[in-house]
Amino acid sequence: MQTRITEILGIRYPIVQGGLAYLAYSELAAAVSNAGGLGQITAMTLSTPEELKREIQKVKQMTNKPFGVNFAIGQHGRSYEDMLDVAIEEQVPAISITGGNPAPILDRLENEPIRSLVLVAGVRQAVKAEQLGADMVMVVGQEGGGHLGRDDIGTMVLVPRVVESVSIPVIASGGIGNGKGLLAALVLGAEGVEMGTRFIATKECVHASERYKEDILGAKETDTLVIKRTLGAPGRTLKTELAQQILDQESKGANYEQLKEMISGKSNIKYIYEGNSVEGYGWAGQVVGLIHDIPTVQELFDNMAQELKKGRQRLNQLLMEEK
Ligand SMILES: Cc1cc2nc3c(=O)[nH]c(=O)nc-3n(C[C@H](O)[C@H](O)[C@H](O)COP(=O)(O)O)c2cc1C
Repeated sequence: MQTRITEILGIRYPIVQGGLAYLAYSELAAAVSNAGGLGQITAMTLSTPEELKREIQKVKQMTNKPFGVNFAIGQHGRSYEDMLDVAIEEQVPAISITGGNPAPILDRLENEPIRSLVLVAGVRQAVKAEQLGADMVMVVGQEGGGHLGRDDIGTMVLVPRVVESVSIPVIASGGIGNGKGLLAALVLGAEGVEMGTRFIATKECVHASERYKEDILGAKETDTLVIKRTLGAPGRTLKTELAQQILDQESKGANYEQLKEMISGKSNIKYIYEGNSVEGYGWAGQVVGLIHDIPTVQELFDNMAQELKKGRQRLNQLLMEEK
């Protein structure tokens, strides 16, 4: 496959593994890159810059393919500068940014041979990212797992809107988990996809508890909830007991102070590492309804390539019939 994304990033498949808070370590990043996509380490949920350095060096040992480091700035209550210094020192091939103003990071990358991707949830932010010099923009629709935009716009509408509004390559995100989704994204004008939830249910996502993976397999598309909307930071999670409780508290008018313990990173870890759904929550998108197995990343990409081919044949048939 050849798109501007595969060319700019030097990858085989135009598939980016999204930042995955507390889950995207070297094992997953290297597996995705080795299988032909762009794997990423998530910086902001690592404890120290030294830990990031170790993870980057591990990826470099496990693959000679390009990979990225994700910066969800302003989401985890710590500054990012020391982590960014490490990523630049290590000359990682790509850096992705979300959750805040990307300008200071894009400025730092201006004279570096590091590719930049900015993850946004709306047209205005995409245009801004282009103006600020981003190489690529990723746009996540309302179906997605984790933090979302506040406007509730789905991928199907958001992607072509962003495509018609910027000239840098667009990567579609939110609700994509198989080859049909990839094909659809390309038809919408995107030149690649970013997936988050799908990668949790892979063998190489070694930090996710078996319970989290099994719950993703068992979940239908109706089994997610959007929490933290009343705090202005909506995010899509699996329907765990705690997630339901957070939502109940929000509907009763609870403020940040009252919610802070329940929505903390600690509560996130309780479920995603320990499988405790009573006291914990875990991000996931509506695409859970389409996830039925736990393959290796290589198997996932091979399946996606097959599905893409079949989808293309189907389109050819349908369009021929129309003639
Ligand atoms: C468990 C989980 C954690 C996430 N953490 C981050 C993160 O730290 N940084 C980031 O840029 N995006 C994060 N996201 C969003 C993903 O990168 C991606 O945009 C989203 O999952 C796409 O929707 P999908 O889940 O339908 O594929 C997270 C998503 C999930 C499911």
